[in-house]
Amino acid sequence: MNEQLNSDNENIKSKRTIRSFVLRQGRLTKGQEQALNNLWPVFGIEYDANSPIYFATGKPAVLEIGFGMGASLIEMAKNAPNKNFLGIEVHKPGVGACLMAIEENQLSNLKVMCHDAVEVLENMIPNHSLDKVQIFFPDPWHKARHNKRRIIQPKFVQLIRQKLKLGGILHLATDWQNYAEHMLDVLNQAEGFENLSPSSNYIPRPDDRPITKFEKRGQNLGHGVWDLQFVNK
Ligand SMILES: C[S@@+](CC[C@H](N)C(=O)[O-])C[C@H]1O[C@@H](n2cnc3c(N)ncnc32)[C@H](O)[C@@H]1O
Repeated sequence: MNEQLNSDNENIKSKRTIRSFVLRQGRLTKGQEQALNNLWPVFGIEYDANSPIYFATGKPAVLEIGFGMGASLIEMAKNAPNKNFLGIEVHKPGVGACLMAIEENQLSNLKVMCHDAVEVLENMIPNHSLDKVQIFFPDPWHKARHNKRRIIQPKFVQLIRQKLKLGGILHLATDWQNYAEHMLDVLNQAEGFENLSPSSNYIPRPDDRPITKFEKRGQNLGHGVWDLQFVNK
């Protein structure tokens, strides 16, 4: 797994496309390293543009992009054993931490990938196969000159719509007001999406979204939180 990841990361670096992340080489704890070696073969899915991921029929399929250390994704998977979850994260220590938690909690409904979610969506997720896509606290890229790195962009939300079933939901959350407004603009203008907010903007945090690690940090700094849900009509 580690060789595959290193070569993936080199490929990612060498491309000139604008990415929504910068790979931090954060150190792995012993536990994370062991999890990447021992648990990856059980709960990990290798990136392979020629191997589409087929979700089990009869169970809703939920994709989370950028799960960080995975704590809120684990909580959601624990609380919804009737759903299948796939988490994608490029940060290796986060993937290691999530693998450890999958085993600790004996979860059989969560798999993880360590790759750019844009490429996974483009090449591995079949069209109209997802019931929900969730992206919680994506990197805000708050400097104006970096705004182009934000993952929520018109082209990307159409890629997501292509992968959602009809009636499938895109759930976003951010603690950066300017990014929330950007998300709302992009989705209001996106063909095929309808806002589920009765006030046509934001919704209160739904009960099934646990407070994430990143959100807690924001709350301590006095940040607000904006949740958005749009349905693929
Ligand atoms: C600010 S963190 C939020 C983490 C977590 N959702 C939380 O709320 O605690 C954003 C995460 O998205 C990941 N990320 C950004 N772009 C990504 C991409 N294209 N594919 C996969 N992960 C990505 C980053 O590595 C980072 O861990």
